[in-house]
Amino acid sequence: MPVIILIAGISFYSCNQQPVKEAKAAEPVKSEENYILEGKYLTGLAGCHDCHTPKVFPEGVMALDESRLLSGAPAGAPLPSIDLKALEPGNWVLMSGDLTTAIGPWGMTFAQNLTPHETGIKGWTEEVFIKSMRTGKHMGVDQGRPIMPPMPWINLANAKEEDLKAIYKYLMSLPPVDNKVPDPKSPDEVRAMAEGA
Ligand code: HEC
Repeated sequence: MPVIILIAGISFYSCNQQPVKEAKAAEPVKSEENYILEGKYLTGLAGCHDCHTPKVFPEGVMALDESRLLSGAPAGAPLPSIDLKALEPGNWVLMSGDLTTAIGPWGMTFAQNLTPHETGIKGWTEEVFIKSMRTGKHMGVDQGRPIMPPMPWINLANAKEEDLKAIYKYLMSLPPVDNKVPDPKSPDEVRAMAEGA
């Protein structure tokens, strides 16, 4: 009686199916302090200090300048002598000694001041910050200028909303640093600077 055996088998199988439980528990509400701690952790992990924090060199070893964390390329800091070969694609990227300024085929760019000062991101809402990271447009403005290399916004474009929120809250909790970072320079402007030097 192969047919009966088969039917019995099916009904045995289906009786053993557990009803799928809705496993979604409500997300616990994160405190402001926990967001900030999380943001500090993520900012460290994502390497934002590499370019956005000026460096010091105690005993010749590179360290972050804790007195001006994430305050961007220091305004007026001396630039390395410009080698125009860095403007040609396929060569190398030239960086200032503290890695806050870079020259490449895109021109010269200065890591932004990410502290909550007028010269930094004080006026930025959380929405502006998240949109700029997601779209790669300056301040998240749809038709705005692209955010230039080497800012790795593309690494953050698909980050979880919660993570970007945490990074924003951490940045807003930093001591404000007065540092008006220069605007990016086009390759022609860099050539003119090099010739004028
Ligand atoms: C490799 C260097 C580098 C790293 C690493 C880096 N940045 Fe940047 N960032 C830059 C540079 C350079 C600019 C300025 C680009 C410009 O002027 O278009 C910038 C600009 C920005 C801006 C301004 C965006 C806008 O709308 O104009 C924000 C916000 C920012 N970075 C946040 C971060 C955060 C958060 C991290 C860590 C997750 C990070 N950056 C990591 C180099 C870097």
